Amino acid sequence: MTKNTVTVTDNATGKSVDFPVRESVHGPSVLEIGSLYKEFGYFTYDPAFTSTASCQSKITYIDGENGVLLHRGYPIEQLAERSSFLEVAHLLVHRTLPKKSNLDEFRATIKKHMLLNQGILNFFNGFHYDAHPMAMLTAVVSSLSAFYHDRIDISDAYHREQIAIRIIAKMASIAAAAYKHMCGHPVVYPSNQLSYCGNLLNMLFSMPTEQYEVNPIAEKALDQLFILHADHEQNASTSTVRMAGSTGTNPFAAIASGCAALWGPSHGGANESVINMLNEIGSVDNIQKYIDKAKDPNDPFRLMGFGHRVYKSFDPRAKIIRQTCHEVLEALGINDAKLELAMRLEEIALQDEYFVERNLYPNVDFYSGLIYKALGIPTQFFTVMFAIGRTPGWVAQWMEMLADPEQRISRPRQTYRGPSQRDYVEEFQRG
Ligand code: ACO
Repeated sequence: MTKNTVTVTDNATGKSVDFPVRESVHGPSVLEIGSLYKEFGYFTYDPAFTSTASCQSKITYIDGENGVLLHRGYPIEQLAERSSFLEVAHLLVHRTLPKKSNLDEFRATIKKHMLLNQGILNFFNGFHYDAHPMAMLTAVVSSLSAFYHDRIDISDAYHREQIAIRIIAKMASIAAAAYKHMCGHPVVYPSNQLSYCGNLLNMLFSMPTEQYEVNPIAEKALDQLFILHADHEQNASTSTVRMAGSTGTNPFAAIASGCAALWGPSHGGANESVINMLNEIGSVDNIQKYIDKAKDPNDPFRLMGFGHRVYKSFDPRAKIIRQTCHEVLEALGINDAKLELAMRLEEIALQDEYFVERNLYPNVDFYSGLIYKALGIPTQFFTVMFAIGRTPGWVAQWMEMLADPEQRISRPRQTYRGPSQRDYVEEFQRG
């Protein structure tokens, strides 16, 4: 839908060209500059893509100024309160909220695919006992491509749906196997009697030696956390999945590249960093010292779990999860000094001019780590939990990209600032 145009004039030559504006359903319209190089011989320069739409999408909408997050039009607040993780996964992957019979079938199919090929479990034997679980997750998800390659036709919509089911299902089982490897405990297989999150908790915490009952409070909290993580439009890991996927690579390899991007502390690794930071701060008395460090331009320290590239008023997920965090800790009877420390840190930071001026608010990761901790999940494993939650978003975006007739291999350009052309100098002649 093109209504408006924007005229670009090159002051050096006087040449003017009208570029079409493509309207968005919500949010800023986009200027179509695909012919800019042909018309003017210029590329655009937008490091870190702060003003660049890399694709068109019908999945998720974020209004960062007003703290709005919609999946296929549905507000995150309603989904977090009334939906379930697999229903949201269905919404992302299949575009609709399913009828009950379709949702039951979707859930049953996911469960059926949670079992891993025994050969996949063998990979874990190769990892050192203290390997980071994100390293194991990334490697083993990628290795799925060795099991499912020749039978995959990514140009076939039915195959793409099957791949989506497999990835969502197996992500939880691979994550749990990585956890068991960390603990030196035997792998627990999925059970068709349990829900997706119940299965995950059972695969993580049950032991052959004693009975394990899934705690419904933990199961519900996990389900809600996964809903909150399910998709977040073109963030770093999702853009990585799209970029890798645009080459036509094996989908499991593309999702593994998303895991790798998620791992970083500026992205999904932040939940782990929040707990490490709270440990480092140690007590309420030290908060001001760390606030001052975060404000010092010569100190690389940042308040982990604060700030967001897109949300500039508040992160709606953080608002939901903050409430859940209190409820879960209370329901589980956990009196966590870290939560008190986190609340005080939040209070002090939100009154500080530095954070107010820069619109730095707690993001979803500020609280998710506290819930994971309350559920008994070790700090190193937090980003793996985030990856499980984000998987439906990654596959939905990958599927959308492949079905989009405008999408070609992603290939950004650059502005070259290195030495100009020069001749090779023999080794003995170099100064
Ligand atoms: N603590 C202290 N100062 C901060 C913080 C922070 N957490 N975040 C940003 N700032 C400051 C910057 O130093 C900068 O100050 P300046 O204008 O004086 O130079 C200003 O705020 C703007 O920050 P940018 O780095 O330009 O913001 P950007 O959008 O590039 O970064 C990011 C966003 C990476 C999330 C950043 O806020 C950050 O590092 N936060 C901590 C890590 C974190 O919590 N990541 C999780 C993100 S949410 C997610 O992935 C689910």
